[in-house]
Amino acid sequence: MCGIVGYVGGQNAAPLLVEALGRLEHRGYDSAGVAVVGSRTRVTKRAGRVRDLAEVLPKRMSGQVGIGHTRWATHGPATDLNAHPHTDASGAVAVVHNGIVDNAAALRARLTDQGVVLASDTDSEVFAHLVARSTADSLEGKVVDALDAVEGTYGLAVVHADFPDRVVVARNGSPLLVGVGDKEMFVASDLAALVRHTTTVAHLADGELATVTASGFTTFRRDLTRTQTEAREVDVDPSAYEHGLVDGRPRMYTEMLEQPASVERALRGRLDERFATAHLGGLEMDARELRAVRRVKILGCGSAYYVGQMGASLIEELARVPADAEPASEFRYRSPVIEPDTLYVAVSQSGETIDTLLAVEEIRRKGGRVIGLVNVVGSAIARACDGGIYLHAGPEIAVASTKALTTMFVGFALLALQLGRVRDLSVADGRRLVAGLQNLPAQIEQVLSTEDRIAQVATALAEAESLFFVGRVRGFPVAREGAQKFKEISYRHAEAYQMSELKHGPLALISPEVPTVAVVPDDELTDRNVAALHEIAARGGPLVVVTHAGVDLGELQAERIDVPRNERELDPLLLTVPMQLLAFHAALALGHDVDKPRNLAKSVTVE
Ligand code: F6R
Repeated sequence: MCGIVGYVGGQNAAPLLVEALGRLEHRGYDSAGVAVVGSRTRVTKRAGRVRDLAEVLPKRMSGQVGIGHTRWATHGPATDLNAHPHTDASGAVAVVHNGIVDNAAALRARLTDQGVVLASDTDSEVFAHLVARSTADSLEGKVVDALDAVEGTYGLAVVHADFPDRVVVARNGSPLLVGVGDKEMFVASDLAALVRHTTTVAHLADGELATVTASGFTTFRRDLTRTQTEAREVDVDPSAYEHGLVDGRPRMYTEMLEQPASVERALRGRLDERFATAHLGGLEMDARELRAVRRVKILGCGSAYYVGQMGASLIEELARVPADAEPASEFRYRSPVIEPDTLYVAVSQSGETIDTLLAVEEIRRKGGRVIGLVNVVGSAIARACDGGIYLHAGPEIAVASTKALTTMFVGFALLALQLGRVRDLSVADGRRLVAGLQNLPAQIEQVLSTEDRIAQVATALAEAESLFFVGRVRGFPVAREGAQKFKEISYRHAEAYQMSELKHGPLALISPEVPTVAVVPDDELTDRNVAALHEIAARGGPLVVVTHAGVDLGELQAERIDVPRNERELDPLLLTVPMQLLAFHAALALGHDVDKPRNLAKSVTVE
């Protein structure tokens, strides 16, 4: 959430910073700005998108050292004044900040009492004034003085007209990376902004600061003692981070189409046909430890939580170990009992979601064992866990998550298979699932090939102000994820419900104006599901049924979307793909910016 960039080198900083901000825009897109240091510090910032900033960037804004920011508002609305960088009264200091200053109200009051006139409503502005008011001789000392006054989380970058050769950065709970170029250095909150320039990168640790000049960087702690953080080559494909429309289609679209390949990557090298099991080396648990697990608790947020629910079903079904999923954002606040024989699983695409990270830290503090299902290699959650499974989905840029979620499902299926096979899951069942998993990439391809038909259905659904998404047991998290995606990018009210619960209340809302998208796999509940569909139809509710070929819907008037059959346990994945396409095409029909839905941003790094 929010993006930071910085540059020190031989090039003109402002256009380079604006270009880099464009690569971080998925992390916040309500306002943006840059500051460049030359003989003085000059700032340009605007409410709106990075392209709006680019349009107003003065030609004469030259200087070879600078910082930039793209914002997702927390304190104060998206206005020019609340955009970063923030400056002190003299205009010498400029700061950009990700995170939250918990004691902002007290600091703002103290600064006002001291005669400081605050220009914005933000918590971040206090950093600029605190740095300016410090009496320390060095910029590093001034930044440390400011940090000493602040409680909260930050990724911070600071420039100062009196120290025009450097950017000083600090990290506490919000990622910051330093990129090493040839006689030039870069700063960013996300690899996406750096890879075009360099893949030699240092990740700052929490509590660490760095001085970045054209010739290199040094890292240190708040007491100014040096640390030894080094830059390393990261193994990434820079082209995978290219943003924006591909072949005229939004990034979400290309990410949906990548799913056969990303699922294949998530499976690669992890299936053992001979012993009909999975091998997840990153778990760092031997068979005896896996057998000792008495319960599995899955924690994630948003869509990751819904896939966690799919994962809990898989684990219960295949391993016969009690399993459930809970929103990580609630878990920590109910003072949870941490049990020694429970395996905790944190699931996250970004590996940065603060609620999930704090839940992991809470579990570890209480002595629990937690593994991660994480996409971003080396991210905070991946590092905080005892072990884990990388998803290998590749960079996910669109705000609405798609390909990461399907690889999460695969991760859970592999975990369930391995847990099952050290317990009572038979070789025959193991083989059945290994084959089922191997079939998934081609079957996802098949679902994607029905896009035109799904687009037609979606365009009709887009007209409704309000919709239900319903399913039962394995189908319910699919319905929840379907409703989530629909809300997120079409801005229609979409409510997920268990099909079995409809008649206990919500059936009152069914009418010809309120369509229902029903998830009806061919399983032990099909007959009951079809009966519930009749109850909806009898009340005039239009129906879209996502199901398997051969499921008999009788006389029911319904739009039907069929997905291929696999093993029942793996159904949720294939049923989820049409949900993504429905939401995508509804949003497109409504003319929305699919990749940057209103009010949202990728990676929720604030509580
Ligand atoms: C929905 C979506 C969010 C994320 C959630 C967790 O499309 O993207 O609900 O799933 O914010 O994010 P990660 O997986 O990065 O922890």
